[in-house]
Order: sequence, then structure tokens, then C-alpha cells
Amino acid sequence: MSFLSKNVPEAEEPAADVATGARLIPRITIQAFCEHSQTAQLVESAIHDRRMSKVALTTHNGGLEGAIETYKSNPTPNLILVETSLQPDEIPGALERLAEVCDATTRLIVLGHVNDVVLYRELIRSGVSEYIVLPTSAQSIVSAITELFAAEGAAPIGRTIGFVSAKGGAGGSTVAHNVAWAISQYLRQDVLILDLDFAFGTAGLNFNQDPPHGLADAINASQMDQAVLDRLMSKAANHINLLTAPVMLDRTFDFAERDFEQVIELSQKSIPVVVLDIPHAWTSWVRHTLATIDEIVIVAEPDLANLRNAKNLADTIKALRPAESEPLLVINQIGLPRRPEIGAAEFATSVECSLLGQIGFDAATFGIAANNGQMITEVSANHRSNEVFRLIGMHVTGRGTSERVSGKASTLKLPAFLKRKRA
Ligand SMILES: Nc1ncnc2c1ncn2[C@@H]1O[C@H](COP(=O)(O)OP(=O)(O)OP(=O)(O)O)[C@@H](O)[C@H]1O
Ligand SMILES: [Mg+2]
Repeated sequence: MSFLSKNVPEAEEPAADVATGARLIPRITIQAFCEHSQTAQLVESAIHDRRMSKVALTTHNGGLEGAIETYKSNPTPNLILVETSLQPDEIPGALERLAEVCDATTRLIVLGHVNDVVLYRELIRSGVSEYIVLPTSAQSIVSAITELFAAEGAAPIGRTIGFVSAKGGAGGSTVAHNVAWAISQYLRQDVLILDLDFAFGTAGLNFNQDPPHGLADAINASQMDQAVLDRLMSKAANHINLLTAPVMLDRTFDFAERDFEQVIELSQKSIPVVVLDIPHAWTSWVRHTLATIDEIVIVAEPDLANLRNAKNLADTIKALRPAESEPLLVINQIGLPRRPEIGAAEFATSVECSLLGQIGFDAATFGIAANNGQMITEVSANHRSNEVFRLIGMHVTGRGTSERVSGKASTLKLPAFLKRKRA
């Protein structure tokens, strides 16, 4: 079968550059905290390395203490580089303080001034990804990052988050797009939205985009790799990438159970956050996708049909993936005038899902946003739902529960580089 309405662009540069043997590092965000200006210059020069072409890198002053101060009130990136001139016996304690303000998935490379094998071993054992002794070359830094994120068998960096409506029109797509936007703006990490509603998807409309290529090309490409994926994605805004649905009815779309698997896996390898806008349908591929992604958000309106469907969905999802995270619930369109409603708490209790957010009905704001191809925050920066979208985003990206203002876990989820030490 062919969904190709347009030609798929040829891969001009494979992910592993044949000429140089260089593997490209995925679209991660790196923040470096340096003590000396030479170190900052060295780190900045690393961005010119071909392997770093997709990376967003910023450098800051202040070394380890600067990093600790910054992350007390800001979310952490995929990777932190931190320079320290502390003595070997002081470093582990300082890193412990850094770990306490870091998100669980953040990796850490330490740039130190002491060539000490005992210290090196201790840091690696405690989960620090690499300890590099200064002075060093930009190339060594890039190689360490490549080893971490682009080596054969490196864990995928991306988290896959699916949004599904309990009933058609409940708002799964609207919530998915606005949460994706909130994640991209707040975490400043790249997000890819996959619009899986091939016939009627609204990701293109909602971001006011009509890109020449989309998800149909991706699942139909004869040879799919990172470079082709890069070419098919369209950029809707800073950090927001789309693979839109073809939205054409000249043919029907019947997919096999695993048709989307490859694209999802590839996306996960190169982009930190992958948001799936899943249509309200029950097919083998929807079920399979729900069984395999990291997080699932069920969006429901507070009425009986939504409640019945949400409960069925939640029960089925829990049975499909007993060892994975449970589905989460968002109740949308609360307060529609004159409509009798089931209370949010009662709804969540009946569905046996934790209630992640409640969004009020607001025909004017949501209507303007939909018609203009804008996000809610672009139409109304102070709209209440923006905070709900942000909190949903922080939760599904592992940044903890709704109580936190800074975006990090209230129940402390230790980063890998401390977890191992304490285990
Ligand atoms: N809180 C809200 N208040 C008012 N209108 C809303 C709200 N949330 C969503 N809408 C509107 O409801 C309509 C349906 O939303 P959306 O397309 O997100 O639903 P869906 O569940 O993804 O639908 P489908 O079943 O077609 O996939 C859109 O016009 C959207 O603007
Ligand atoms: Mg939808």
C-alpha cells in the first residue's frame, strides 16, 4: 500500500556520516557551567563539531555552585557539563547537592582539574557519566557526549506520551498540542508531535502549518532512518516539530498492528519528547501503540458516555501493560453551560485513574485558538488552562507532581548519577 502523496526527500546525509565515521548526537539540550573563561570557550567551540549539529548548547558561569543555584528553580536539560576545581574529597558531596535539584533523566559530565583515578572510579560508580580532566580538547568532550547519546545500543533519549480521547471530540488533540507546546517552552527541549489521525488530524491546523511532508511519508518510506525523519519533520515553532497527518479521503487508512513502530522508535532515538495524538478509535495498531509507549493520558468530558469509555480504556490499558505506568486522566470542557456533569473527583474514582488535570469549557478562547491555528497561551497568555497544560507536561516528562512550581519532582526522583550510589 502507498500513502505517498508527495515524494519523500532523499537522505543526503546518513545519521552516521560515512566520510568521517561520525555519528550525529540527537536533538538534546546541553547546559555547561564553567568556572574559567577558557573552559567556556572550549565547550562553546565543541558546537562546531559536525556531530553536535542538532544539539542546543548554552554555557553559563559559576561551575558546580552555579549549576546548583540555577536548577533550584529551573528544569534540568538532557545533559549538564560542570567544571569544578574542588578537591577530590569535596566533589562527591557537592555532586550530591546537585543531584538533589536535578530531574531523574538528566546525565552529568564533570570537567575537573585533578587527574585522580580513585576519584574517577568513585564518580563513575556514583553514576556520573564521564569525568574529563582539564585541559582537554573540544573533540574529547564531543566524543564523550557521542559515546553517551549516540553509541550503538545507547538508550533512546525520547519519552513517548500518547493522548487519547475517551469519546470523539473530548479534546485529546487540543490537550496534546497545548501540552507539547508547554513542554517545549518550559523545558526548552525538542518535541515531536505525531498526528496519528490520518483522515481527520488537526495538528497541521492547530499549528497553522501545511507542510509538504508528514507521517504518511514516514511510514511509507522504503528506507527510513534518522536523516529521512529529519527531512520529513516540519518545524512549527522553536522546539516544536510535526509529522502531520495527510488528511485526504481519496483512500482509506487501514494499518497493521506494527506499522507505526519503526517511526516511533526512530523518533525516540533522536528527540527528547515525542507526543502522539491518537485518534478515538479501537484498532489493532491503536491497542499496540498504547501497549508500547511510556505514558498515556486519557482526555474525557465529564459525562456518562465518557466515563464508561474512560473506564474501559483504563482497565484495558492497565491489563495490556501491567508493569508500565498507569494511564492518567484529564477532564476537559468542565462547566459547559446547562450541561449536567459528573464531578471530577467522582469521575476519577470511578475510572480508577489519577486525575492529572481539569480544564474548563471556554468556547471563545478555544474557538479562537482553533480557528487561528494558535495555542491557548498565544490567544490568552494568562488563561487558567495554560498552567494545567504545563503541569500535565511536567508530570508526563517525569518532572513530578502538580504541587511543584519549579517543575521538579516533589517526591524526590533522584537522577541516575546519584541513584546508583545510594542503591
Ligand atoms: N476546554 C475546551 N473548551 C472549549 N472548547 C474546547 C475545549 N477543548 C477542546 N475544545 C474544542 O473541541 C473541539 C474538539 O477538540 P479536539 O479536536 O481536540 O478533540 P478530539 O477529542 O481530539 O477530537 P477527535 O475525536 O476528532 O480526535 C475543538 O473544536 C476544540 O477547539
Ligand atoms: Mg483528535
